[in-house]
Amino acid sequence: MEQKRENPRLVVYGCGGHGKVVADIALARGLRVEGFIDDGVQAGGRVLGLPILGGAAWLEAHRSEVGVALGIGENHARRRVYGLCEALGLVPATLIHPSAVVAASARVGAGVVVMAQAVINPDARVADGVIINSGAIVEHDCELGAFAHLSPNATLGGTVRIGALAHVGLGASILPGKSVGEEAVVGAGAVVLADVPPRVVVVGVPARVRR
Ligand SMILES: CC(C)(COP(=O)(O)OP(=O)(O)OC[C@H]1O[C@@H](n2cnc3c(N)ncnc32)[C@H](O)[C@@H]1OP(=O)(O)O)[C@@H](O)C(=O)NCCC(=O)NCCS
Repeated sequence: MEQKRENPRLVVYGCGGHGKVVADIALARGLRVEGFIDDGVQAGGRVLGLPILGGAAWLEAHRSEVGVALGIGENHARRRVYGLCEALGLVPATLIHPSAVVAASARVGAGVVVMAQAVINPDARVADGVIINSGAIVEHDCELGAFAHLSPNATLGGTVRIGALAHVGLGASILPGKSVGEEAVVGAGAVVLADVPPRVVVVGVPARVRR
C-alpha cells in the first residue's frame, strides 16, 4: 500500500511509551518529528531527545505548520484526541513502519499506526485511529472498527471482525470468521473460538467471559 503523503513536519500527540514508538516510526519513514504534544506533562522536557512542546493550545497555535500523529495507546483517549485534531482541521497521519507488510488491496484509514513487522493481508479494512502493534497479523478480509487496538503479536484469522474501541491483548488469537464486539477486551494469550459480545472481558484458552 502506498503511504499517503503527509506534512513532513510532524508532532506526536502523547509522549508516553506508545508515543515514543510512534515517533520512531515517523523517523524511520524519513519524516521530521518536531516534538511531542501532551496535556498532562510540563512543556520543556525531552523524550527520545525531542522536545515536549506543550498541550492542545500549542497545536492550535501551530496547526498550519505541522501534521499530527496519534501517540496515545488507550482507545477512548485516542478517539478524544482524534476529535480534537479534526476540530482543528488536522487529519491525523497514518504511519506504517517500513518493515510492516500491507497488501495493496487493504484499506487503512486516517490516524492508523502500523508497527514494525505487522502484516495486513488482502482486502482487510482498518478503520480510523486503529493501532496494529508490533508483529500483529491481520489476515485477508478482516474488518477492524475505529480506534480498536491489536496488541503485539495478536493474530486475526481470515474474515475476523473487531468492533470499534475493542482491545485484543498481547499474543491473543482470534479464529477465522469470529467477531469481537465493540469495546470488548481479549486478554493476553487468549484464543477466541466463539464470537465475543460487546463490552466484555474474555481470557484463557479457549477464551471465556471473565466479566
Ligand atoms: C484480561 C485483562 C484485561 C484483565 O485485567 P484485570 O481486570 O486488571 O485483571 P487482574 O490482573 O485483576 O486479574 C484478574 C484475574 O484474571 C486473571 N487473568 C488476568 N489476565 C489474564 C489473561 N490474560 N489470561 C488468563 N487469565 C488472566 C488473573 O490471573 C486473575 O485471576 P484470579 O482472579 O483467579 O486471581 C488483562 O490481564 C490483560 O490480559 N490485558 C491485556 C494487556 C495487553 O495485552 N496489553 C498490551 C499493551 S501494548
